[in-house]
Amino acid sequence: MEMLWLCTVLILMQDVLAVTWLHLAKQTSLRGALRDPGVCAGLTGLVEEQVRVCRRQVEAMEAVKRGAELAVEECQYQFHSRRWNCSTLQELQVFGKVAIQGTRESAFIHAISSAGVAFAVTRACSRGELEKCGCDRKIRGVSPEGFQWSGCSDNLSYGIAFSQAFVDNPERSRGISSSRALMNLHNNKAGRKALLAHMKVECKCHGVSGSCEVRTCWRVMPPFRKVGNVLKEKFEGATEVHPQQVGSRKLLVPKSSRFKPYTAHDLVYLLASPDFCDRDPRHGVFGTSGRQCNRTSPAMDGCELLCCGRGFHTTQAEVVERCSCKFRWCCSVKCKQCRHRVEVHSCR
Ligand SMILES: *[C@@H]1O[C@H](CO)[C@@H](O)[C@H](O)[C@H]1NC(C)=O
Ligand SMILES: *[C@@H]1O[C@H](CO)[C@@H](O)[C@H](O)[C@H]1NC(C)=O
Ligand SMILES: *[C@@H]1O[C@H](CO)[C@@H](O)[C@H](O)[C@H]1NC(C)=O
Repeated sequence: MEMLWLCTVLILMQDVLAVTWLHLAKQTSLRGALRDPGVCAGLTGLVEEQVRVCRRQVEAMEAVKRGAELAVEECQYQFHSRRWNCSTLQELQVFGKVAIQGTRESAFIHAISSAGVAFAVTRACSRGELEKCGCDRKIRGVSPEGFQWSGCSDNLSYGIAFSQAFVDNPERSRGISSSRALMNLHNNKAGRKALLAHMKVECKCHGVSGSCEVRTCWRVMPPFRKVGNVLKEKFEGATEVHPQQVGSRKLLVPKSSRFKPYTAHDLVYLLASPDFCDRDPRHGVFGTSGRQCNRTSPAMDGCELLCCGRGFHTTQAEVVERCSCKFRWCCSVKCKQCRHRVEVHSCR
């Protein structure tokens, strides 16, 4: 009996585990305390493997926390006008409840948080904040286009490896035969690919009065917003898959043969999403009642879709804006305050 109970608890835990480390984003008391491996065991949301990674590389944990913040901010930005607005990550007590497990929302969260860690750790490396990594000064010489490589290129290899150890290993230990784990691992990797595939080259010109006789260049990561935009697109085009035994291996294959095969850059999911219309706190769904909507938009932010056909209230609100700004010599800008009334619509 006791054994059975323990098993049930473990299975339930496994269902909510996957990204609970994002709790780090909300732990404000940590500033400056992330130097001592002793704090690792006390961090909320970390699983055993992650505590081990933390003990080994405690100096990187400030960056991991930053990565979690980036992921949560980006998720909320990308989803702010949808029924599911990523608030699962805002109210951490409902965090990870099962409504989104296995869905494309979960696919996005895994991808963006795996990319967030790789991004933040790489940035810390380039800034010289970590002992074990730095920027890449080995890209040297002259490129075919005739510019000189030099300076500090972002070296993604440490950040990527760190992200693998931190976000993938806990999934691996769930057993590679779990479809959920396969799904999460695939999406974690797709998130890192979105980062890798959009590395850019930045250059600076040297020479008399900007003649650009010599151009020195280095590689930088894209802004994190770019990664968010790419992954949001992947979310829209995500592939529904199901597990299939191929020889001794379990693989995720597209559910319909009409779907095009997915690549390492695409997101995959196992379960259709709920409609997120009605409040269901037990499953971490806020519902859309009270959400602001756009009366004329035919898209997801429009009242029709956002309010799930329940209709909306309209209220008047006053907005205050700066207006009639004048530049005054020298050097200030003087503005008036203009008030005007706007209609605000919110879902019933
Ligand atoms: C990038 O980082 C990896 C891992 O820290 C290191 O092995 C490699 O030498 C670095 N590459 C360059 C070109 O600095
Ligand atoms: C998401 O929507 C809920 C209501 O459904 C609201 O309470 C919350 O503030 C919203 N979160 C964000 C980040 O917009
Ligand atoms: C509402 O949607 C319309 C049509 O998509 C758009 O032109 C307008 O700017 C939106 N209004 C607001 C306040 O976002």
